[in-house]
Amino acid sequence: MNILGINAYHGNASAAIVCDGQLIAAVEEERFNRVKYAAGFPAAAIRYCLKEAGLTLADVDHVAVPRNPYARLWTKLFYAVRMPSFARERIKVLAKFTGIREALAQAFDANPDKLKAKFHRVEHHVAHLASSFYCSPFEEAALLSADGLGDFASSMWGAGFGPLMNVHGSIAFPHSLGLYYSAITQYLGFLKFGDEYKVMGLGAYGQPEYLEAFREIVKSNGGGFTLALKYFTHHRTGPEMSWAEADRTPTLGKLFSDELPKRLGPARQPEDGIEQRHKNLASSLQARLEEVYLGMLRHLAHETQMKSVCLAGGVAFNCVANGKILSETPFENVYVHPAAGDAGLAVGAALYVWHQVLGEPRSFAMEHAYWGPGFSVEETRKAVEAAKLADDGYTIALLEEEKLLEQTAKIIGEGKILGWFQGRAEWGPRALGNRSIVADPRKPEMKEILNRRIKHREIFRPFAPSILAEATSHWFEQSHPSPFMTMAYSVRPEKRDKIPAPTHVDGTGRLQTVTKTANPRYWKLIKEVERQTGVPVVLNTSFNDNEPIVCKPQEAIDCFLRTQMDALVLGDFLITKS
Ligand SMILES: [Fe+2]
Repeated sequence: MNILGINAYHGNASAAIVCDGQLIAAVEEERFNRVKYAAGFPAAAIRYCLKEAGLTLADVDHVAVPRNPYARLWTKLFYAVRMPSFARERIKVLAKFTGIREALAQAFDANPDKLKAKFHRVEHHVAHLASSFYCSPFEEAALLSADGLGDFASSMWGAGFGPLMNVHGSIAFPHSLGLYYSAITQYLGFLKFGDEYKVMGLGAYGQPEYLEAFREIVKSNGGGFTLALKYFTHHRTGPEMSWAEADRTPTLGKLFSDELPKRLGPARQPEDGIEQRHKNLASSLQARLEEVYLGMLRHLAHETQMKSVCLAGGVAFNCVANGKILSETPFENVYVHPAAGDAGLAVGAALYVWHQVLGEPRSFAMEHAYWGPGFSVEETRKAVEAAKLADDGYTIALLEEEKLLEQTAKIIGEGKILGWFQGRAEWGPRALGNRSIVADPRKPEMKEILNRRIKHREIFRPFAPSILAEATSHWFEQSHPSPFMTMAYSVRPEKRDKIPAPTHVDGTGRLQTVTKTANPRYWKLIKEVERQTGVPVVLNTSFNDNEPIVCKPQEAIDCFLRTQMDALVLGDFLITKS
């Protein structure tokens, strides 16, 4: 039984294929069309998924689409009457959705009437919940989707038991924690889609001195919250999103009203410098998010009496808030889907159909994130040869694993910057040791070097550590697994000066705990770094330069040359400057 999940015409367009309950492949369209957060129809992602599974379109039994136009129909109609332009935009997107069968057939040059697959609509947040619960190792768990907006809701919660999920409640438009964070992100002068994580990083430099004001902007309400709508515009004009096109990064219209600067002071323009006031505002934004988010989780723990929680939705990427769940709520286990944002809907919808619609038992847990394209030694060799690196003075060596790891760890220990490309690409926005740039965590200047030479990004943004899972408790104050870099924990005070490069200004690190089973070669590399330097940690940042993470060997070589990294490992090839 083959189920294709498709997240289309929405940010982070993606596809996933589930065969007999096992996930075979999952990937975002942006990795192919090289447009960050690409929306549109994910034709290339679907093609890849089918190829990886050895299937043709004719072999697909079910297609799962994470959107239900009929969800909250009355709320939608109520707002459609008040916001005609928003309604027109929605109708345009809806028209594309109803044509998803045709778009799929067209992408494969097939006759839509001949597709045997049955199409299923799974509500946005139900797919988020499914993406986390059905990929978690938990037999039963509390579930929370905390998000911006999807199918006219922003949050949903419930409980999962074996193959079944029960939804207990949801919060409808216009109240949204995600849109609250996005609105204040815009007010602070960060206008691009996906800039929220920059503001989260900035918050660590400030004090929450505006917390009282933010408590007025987002009000707690039992297990949920409401927004003080006078500070926002989306309930009047609709959130102006453009994400029907595949070749454009989505954009979001202005979300905050003139009342917000009246309450908090003037909005920062993108070209303005960052003052302490902005840092304090970012800190207050984050502090209020944590109060509400952790409050919802405490309520959910009380309601369900469960020990484990599964999280998804854009807000579930807030690793700073996630890092506090174990100490500030009754939950003892946390699972966050690695593609917690809307890409993950493709996996969630497909697994929902397998379990909840078809009634099949659980047999899968997502314990690693390597579900994207991989390349053979031959393909890698061809890419290396085609780049004619030897002509430009690079040394290329094909090495046995032991030698490769020994030399690579030495390069890292010498303070050089390494491009590290292995196996199948990561699912979700984090590089987790297969498409990573790796550097020495012991050198405080490494952060500045990486920002200046390679990443060209704001200096206040932190870099992340990858650590041998078994060493976590020696270096961090918490040791619960964080395999997908979705938790930030405090680095032990006595260790902070030993790994200054990936330790943020507030003493935390957004860590990846690496196990030998999840990624054997990356684990061995860090083990070798530990043998040579005494530190079981490397700094890990995504292999890209203001673009989607590299996917193919050729893209890795291009990025390596463009950014002047010191060395590149592509599978078993080690490429260094002579
Ligand atoms: Fe979402």
